[in-house]
Amino acid sequence: MGECTYLVAWDGGVPLGHGEVLWQGCKSAEVRDAYPGCPEINGLLVYCAEMRGRGIGSALIRTAEDRARDRGFKWIGVGAGDDNPRAMALYERLGYSAGIRYVDVWSYKDDAEVRHVVEDPCTFLVKDLPG
Ligand SMILES: CC(C)(COP(=O)(O)OP(=O)(O)OC[C@H]1O[C@@H](n2cnc3c(N)ncnc32)[C@H](O)[C@@H]1OP(=O)(O)O)[C@@H](O)C(=O)NCCC(=O)NCCS
Repeated sequence: MGECTYLVAWDGGVPLGHGEVLWQGCKSAEVRDAYPGCPEINGLLVYCAEMRGRGIGSALIRTAEDRARDRGFKWIGVGAGDDNPRAMALYERLGYSAGIRYVDVWSYKDDAEVRHVVEDPCTFLVKDLPG
């Protein structure tokens, strides 16, 4: 099994959004310890703001859940940043329950090639996947 499945939502030949399923779980060890064997939906994005709110994100999430169920996983999770209450509301509406809090640490390089480390406080939400 690969580490990740990359999902793309298409309208004909036009990609509208994407997300990935990390089969080994969240990159935070704290989260993996709390939810063993729980893959994570990561990096959900609908590219154009005008296309948001039309069900594309929900379709990506449902597809991720189906793939996880097909592989025999009993649950799946997703992280939501404290600064993203709308995403959190969507996940809860789709049946996810707020679990542990953690800090997502990631980094990027600016135009001058200087690396910046970002720490985002998050909540990990989990959904059971009955067979
Ligand atoms: C979050 C996101 C992937 C959801 O996809 P979507 O196609 O817009 O979602 P759906 O149409 O299936 O569901 C609509 C719900 O998504 C959430 N949502 C809508 N626009 C959003 C936005 N700009 N940012 C965050 N959440 C949003 C809301 O809960 C919305 O419900 P509401 O209209 O009743 O408020 C998409 O809005 C997006 O790309 N947002 C910006 C990036 C982001 O926040 N990614 C999530 C990281 S955890």
